[in-house]
Amino acid sequence: MDDFIFRNPTKIVFGRGTESKVGAEAAVYAKKLLLHFGGGSIRKSGLHARVTASLKAAGVEWVELGGVKPNPRLSLVREGIETCRREKIGLILAVGGGSAIDSAKAIAVGVPYAGDVWDFYTGKAEPREALPVGTVLTIPAAGSEASSGSVVTKEEGLLKRAFNSEHAYPRFSILNPELCFTLPKEQVANGITDIMAHLLERYFTNSRPVEFTDRLIEATLRTVIDVAPRVLAQMKDYEAWSELMWAGTVAHNNLLNTGREGDWASHDIEHELSGIYDVAHGAGLAVVIPAWMKYVLKHDLTRFVQLAVRVWGVDQAFYSPERTAREGIARLEGFWASIGQALRLPGIGIGPDRIEEMAGKGCEGGRKLGHFVPLARADMVAVLKLAL
Ligand code: NZQ
Ligand code: ZN
Repeated sequence: MDDFIFRNPTKIVFGRGTESKVGAEAAVYAKKLLLHFGGGSIRKSGLHARVTASLKAAGVEWVELGGVKPNPRLSLVREGIETCRREKIGLILAVGGGSAIDSAKAIAVGVPYAGDVWDFYTGKAEPREALPVGTVLTIPAAGSEASSGSVVTKEEGLLKRAFNSEHAYPRFSILNPELCFTLPKEQVANGITDIMAHLLERYFTNSRPVEFTDRLIEATLRTVIDVAPRVLAQMKDYEAWSELMWAGTVAHNNLLNTGREGDWASHDIEHELSGIYDVAHGAGLAVVIPAWMKYVLKHDLTRFVQLAVRVWGVDQAFYSPERTAREGIARLEGFWASIGQALRLPGIGIGPDRIEEMAGKGCEGGRKLGHFVPLARADMVAVLKLAL
């Protein structure tokens, strides 16, 4: 096991009706907050009214900034930074999914920073402080509610980039599985795919031995595989949503990569798809991950066999590990197809014409992607061609 330091400071408030506690949680940090949200789902569902009633009851004032798009944009982040400075905001409250939360994190690190907030996304600077962020999560997917990451798209150049920092962990996150009942099925599928991707990225490691975290990841994957069809069949199945929502948070709160180094090439490749084509993150991952798996399969067949046997229940072909490993990949593809995901680039509206451009951006300056098998530009091209 690799050495590690683990500290996740996000307070989780989980359960039915918990959005009513948001005022009290927010009041710990500020008298005035920025209420940050997406395109309108929270008004339609009545969540906006419930959140603001709770803020009012706790004596917390707020300024609103809605309009966060899936694949959140830098221009709105800049607007948020100006608003927070002007209005002397003490907390940013994101109500929504990964996009609203990531945009809130960007604003939070940008407010006290004298330079350009994009510096954090290019690696030119690291955040040293941030305004506190709280969240009310409405979709189990990105895991941003308890993660150290933020992913934002810069419109000029269509660059989707991430940073990770201790300062990006939300102070609190409110998770009420009932809030998922209004999700469109397509978003549910994207969320399920992203959660599984966070588990798989961590699973593919060269660190040894990592038996305990292997088992934790496998158990989480099996839980997601079990509950996914249940939530899709019965959108008001509170118990199934509870399992999925908590699994989604734990999949990405850094517990499951303690003592091991994950891969993350598939995420980097997907960010190039989202950057140019504005596809949903989960939809992009459903295409990239199976292709990546086929490309790196032979690097560590045993790991693929272990996944196939323990997670997918594949009958092990003792004299043909490759057959077992490939069957595991086929089961993953079958599962994602069963929840409605396309498995090839054309299925998400992407042809072969900009593959070289995406690989050039992803591997700019000779950057290699991933740790399990570091991928150079030619490898990224090959993975994307396998995905056609
Ligand atoms: O914008 P509104 O109107 O709220 O609608 C949203 C949006 O259209 C809708 N939605 C969310 N909750 C809903 C709902 N509709 C009805 N009822 C509800 N309860 O769903 C759509 C997608 O929302 P979004 O926030 O974009 O989804 P998600 O949580 O999947 O976030 C995706 C973003 O997170 C990033 C992705 O790259 C992508 O930009 N990620 C962030 C990570 C992190 N910070 O740690 C890690 C991830 O790997 C990921 O990269
Ligand atoms: Zn992801």
